[in-house]
Amino acid sequence: MALRVYVCRVGDVDDEALRPFRVAGVTWPVIVTRTGGQLVAVPGVCPHEDVALWDGELEGGAIICPGHGYAFDLGTGRCKHDAGLELRRYPITVVGDEIWVDLL
Ligand code: FES
Repeated sequence: MALRVYVCRVGDVDDEALRPFRVAGVTWPVIVTRTGGQLVAVPGVCPHEDVALWDGELEGGAIICPGHGYAFDLGTGRCKHDAGLELRRYPITVVGDEIWVDLL
């Protein structure tokens, strides 16, 4: 079963920028960005500790967490500093100009 939620419009997403979008009923905003021409949606919280990832940097297709500087590859979700950590990547569905993500 999927839990698909509306997040934002395609025009709301900036290239190579970490913009958080609030989703009703979800504690942490969802980050949607476009990197390397691809739309990517991820949780707004670091899987290491509860730190907001949108305050980090996007470098070379990876989010650099502002907490401890760990890098999470947006292509794979893998953490470059700790193999035991992974940043989920939400499946995206674009309907017209709307971006929907599957949270589950
Ligand atoms: S809180 Fe993100 S790397 Fe530690």
